[in-house]
Amino acid sequence: MNAMQCHIIQQAQDFARAVHDGDSSGHDWWHIQRVARIAKILARLEGANTYLCELSAYLHDIADEKLNESKEKGYKRVKEWLMQTGVEASDQEQVLEIISTMSFSGGAGRPMLTLEGQIVQDADRLDAMGAIGIARSFAYAGWKGQSMYDPAIPLRTEMTREEYRKGKSSVINHFYEKLLILSGLLNTESARLLANGKHQEVELFLRAFDKEWAMGNESYLHESPIHRGQVSRVHIAFDDSTAGSLRMMLRSKPGEMVVTLGDDLMVGPLVKDQDFSRSFAVRNDWFQKRYSPSHRDENRLLLMESAVNWLTWPQLLMEWPCVIWAGNAASEQLGLRRLLSLMPDHPHAMLVDATRILQEQTSHITYRGTFELDSDKLRMALDAADPVQLTPTDQVDYRADWERLMEEDGVLRVLQAGVLRTVPESYFDAEILQAAYVLDAREGLYRKSARIIGEVIGKGEVSISDSFIESRVRHLIRQGILTYTGELDAMRFYSVSLVDVSKPEDQWNNTQRLANRVKIQTLLEEMMEIQLLERRIMDQLTQMDTAELGQLVSEEAESVKNGMQACIQELMLTYKPHMEQQTSVITLLSDVRRRLDAAPSEP
Ligand code: ADP
Ligand code: NI
Repeated sequence: MNAMQCHIIQQAQDFARAVHDGDSSGHDWWHIQRVARIAKILARLEGANTYLCELSAYLHDIADEKLNESKEKGYKRVKEWLMQTGVEASDQEQVLEIISTMSFSGGAGRPMLTLEGQIVQDADRLDAMGAIGIARSFAYAGWKGQSMYDPAIPLRTEMTREEYRKGKSSVINHFYEKLLILSGLLNTESARLLANGKHQEVELFLRAFDKEWAMGNESYLHESPIHRGQVSRVHIAFDDSTAGSLRMMLRSKPGEMVVTLGDDLMVGPLVKDQDFSRSFAVRNDWFQKRYSPSHRDENRLLLMESAVNWLTWPQLLMEWPCVIWAGNAASEQLGLRRLLSLMPDHPHAMLVDATRILQEQTSHITYRGTFELDSDKLRMALDAADPVQLTPTDQVDYRADWERLMEEDGVLRVLQAGVLRTVPESYFDAEILQAAYVLDAREGLYRKSARIIGEVIGKGEVSISDSFIESRVRHLIRQGILTYTGELDAMRFYSVSLVDVSKPEDQWNNTQRLANRVKIQTLLEEMMEIQLLERRIMDQLTQMDTAELGQLVSEEAESVKNGMQACIQELMLTYKPHMEQQTSVITLLSDVRRRLDAAPSEP
């Protein structure tokens, strides 16, 4: 840019500031500056004339009809300024061409002829997208006296320029009428790249807005700013992970919406929903007493959100076809039962057990719950079998089972062969102790509790929340069977080990007896595993075709073959007595374990 051009840019800035300062319609001086900056960057990326881009950007909204008596008057104003300032005639022409083609106003308008024009248009459009685009829309609506959202105002798809300016709209409608369309209207590749994130920000905002609009709202399904009364089917998930995969799967199906109910019912007391405040308080107290202080607030919030969901959704869903996703997990089966008891005799409730459907297809893989499945797997399950319609009798049975579980009045439930069983709170303790022992305690070392919790959760056949396992670890510490170093406040700040049992047996107390039992049990399981493995290896060795092996490794096949056969035979000779000794040790260890189990417990 030469000195003259720099001077002109400065004067354009002064002119634009004077015109736009104090505007509250979304065209203030800050908007002009941002557009000029974006235009400059795009010009460099696209190899355009930076001077023309910047100049046009500063002047682009001066002729705006909102700020002038008419479009023509505004246009004349810019024309006069260009002449007075001494802008070169050919540049004047280009700038005026750009400005008169610029405005979005309703349709796509006529296309930009020059790269510079395309860039300034892109810059203006980018400033109407993303977080700033959202903010400008609300500012504009305030200036214009429009509401932020009114479900009664329908979306306009085809509209004239007149309708765009004068017709009834709302900010949320405007998102669909303009903000979400803009990314498809950009001219340059660089602008399209920059627009990606901004487009997502608008979608995220809409989702958050929609969620808050739903809170306690009995007409939500008719009013939802995202679904707009188009809901044809509602999919119900019992946790966020399942809901996320379902949303992915249903992304291009506008009539299908997903609802998450939340709250892992596997753990904690179950209380009748008829008394809402009590059911929330009872569960909340139970968790607050057990869970580590660092998780308490988070847990309370999650529980409250779920409680509100459970309070609102079942009633709303009575009129809609519902697809309930409940598979091979206690939390999902419990959710299913609670839901059906809250929407009695639902005329159109369907069930998908995706874990079972997939297991039937690929029998070698088992899933611990629907939450383990990604969107592709969920789609596979839905393609393989239609959702099962729940008959009135089915629904009565599920409700009865929910009543049974509430009457059993426990705090932990697991799914065993398809049946929900109430089990003692100590159900997972043996696994926790064993994990601690196997990981490090046998060497007398301490191991981070998070690692042990991860081991219990990862290894187990049932899924269980880490906060619950962690609460049991702290319980076992209080009982004296695990010892710890560090701060008990949070999972990552302490390490645990099994209590020391080096004293003679007659001095053991209860917990030491338990610790010792864990050691014996672990040794026993490990020995049995090794024995099985050894036996398999020996079988394979004896069955192996040594002749073939000889050919593979060497030209002197005969001698290799003979050597190998001799070796294997010798090994077999020592293996037999070795295995017998192993078996007697295993029997002995089982006896000891039984004795420890039977020993009288101290008060
Ligand atoms: P331009 O900057 O191209 O002149 P507009 O005058 O159409 O754009 O809009 C200015 C700003 O106000 C933009 O951010 C736009 O999204 C917003 N806006 C325009 N019309 C509406 C509306 N009906 N409701 C809410 N925001 C609007
Ligand atoms: Ni603008």
